[in-house]
Amino acid sequence: VKRTPFIAGNWKMNLDHLQAIAFVQKLAWSLADAKHDYADAEVAVFPPFTDLRSVQTLVTADSLPIGYGAQDLSKHDSGAYTGEISGAFLKQLDCGYVIIGHSERRTLHAESDEDVNAKVIAAHRHGLVPVLCVGETAEDLEAHGASAVPVAQLRRALEGVDASKGLVVAYEPVWAIGSGQAATPAQAEQVAAALRAVLAELAGDEVAQATRILYGGSVKAANIAAFLREPNVDGALVGGASLDIDEFSAIVRFKK
Ligand code: G3H
Repeated sequence: VKRTPFIAGNWKMNLDHLQAIAFVQKLAWSLADAKHDYADAEVAVFPPFTDLRSVQTLVTADSLPIGYGAQDLSKHDSGAYTGEISGAFLKQLDCGYVIIGHSERRTLHAESDEDVNAKVIAAHRHGLVPVLCVGETAEDLEAHGASAVPVAQLRRALEGVDASKGLVVAYEPVWAIGSGQAATPAQAEQVAAALRAVLAELAGDEVAQATRILYGGSVKAANIAAFLREPNVDGALVGGASLDIDEFSAIVRFKK
């Protein structure tokens, strides 16, 4: 099965809407420029909620080959949930994707596996593709090895979920996020293969083979190609390096 590589830029709480417009415009130029050596990856950015309308307007007006999505959504559809954003609103802005269960949400906002599961179901209810994040802390790694926690998180996130409705899984070891210390491509491959085996068990081989599994954690232009050479790693969820237009352009133009 050939899976289209997916390069996703998670801006976290960075870039206001004017900066977002400038960034997306430059990214589009860079993609157009790279026509001849660009490896046909799908590219998407994940701006703060308040930038999404601006990004949508720009992408739609100029038919840019850039996808976008939100960094989170509510598990509820509407009602008295001050500060929350419904998947219905994201769908109205034509978001294709939504990040769910990022480790910063799990640790800083106490999101449980149960919350993550409810959010995956909410995303599907609104036709959004979840970019479901899983990953172990340094302590987990030492106590249980690399795969145990991400595999358990994946199982719990997918309870009652029909993964054929669309799913991207992002393996992000917590110790590699923003640390400058990426996992090795071999480590990422080992966990990605374990995650794919779980997908096969839960959703069947066809869905497992079609589902993209990304690696995230200190990805930059200098290491992207090595990750993408691994058979089970289908792209990257990029944090810090997705804020620098030159670095991110170099990442999306990776050569295998
Ligand atoms: O969502 C992205 C990850 O948290 C990775 O962040 O590339 O800054 O390490 P990073």
